[in-house]
Amino acid sequence: MKGKFITFEGSEGSGKSTQAALICEYLKKKKIPVLLLREPGGVKISEAIRGLLLDVKNTDMTKESETLLYMASRAQLVEEILKPALKKGTVVICDRFLDSTIAYQGFGNGVDINAIKKIGAFATQGIAPGLTLLFDIETEKGLSRTNVVKDRIELRSVNYHRRVRKGYLALAKSESKRIRVIKVDQGKEEIFEIVRKHIDKFLNL
Ligand code: TMP
Repeated sequence: MKGKFITFEGSEGSGKSTQAALICEYLKKKKIPVLLLREPGGVKISEAIRGLLLDVKNTDMTKESETLLYMASRAQLVEEILKPALKKGTVVICDRFLDSTIAYQGFGNGVDINAIKKIGAFATQGIAPGLTLLFDIETEKGLSRTNVVKDRIELRSVNYHRRVRKGYLALAKSESKRIRVIKVDQGKEEIFEIVRKHIDKFLNL
């Protein structure tokens, strides 16, 4: 694959989506072919699955079904957009990817992590990010920054979200070369400078 694949991860209210949009603008200004995607979503079928996953009315969704829906959304995005873009040499920035399922469904909801990794390899066709930026924020602070109208996942308990955060940090520890932790304890501009340095280094800019 000629392109580069970078993911932005983090728990609720970490500001990763804002930073992903900022870095895309930065790369566009440098005339680097870049594509910003989000998960779950990004293409028609995956956006429809996103609707199912986040709908607060779906209170009876099992954790296995939830896991597989995230994977189905991912599989569609990989085949339709991600794989062709990487083949063409595009820099792809994805707001969440497989690490989210490990953190939210695995660490957060007790789904077997080895099963997630196996199904994940199938859904992604083995495509994995070369760099992941993990935006780490204190759980209560992050939750207080989310919308007033919460989705099905945001509505889960503070303890659930604490497990997600711990899971992310454990993942970062076990894959310290790929995953860089960025502490969200300063302003947007200061955080952007840190993000930019990581991206510059990874892309040899
Ligand atoms: P977003 O708020 O970043 O758009 O993500 C939507 C929600 O979906 C967010 O609460 C995290 C959750 N999520 C999972 O639980 N598992 C996953 O695999 C992904 C991609 C997202």
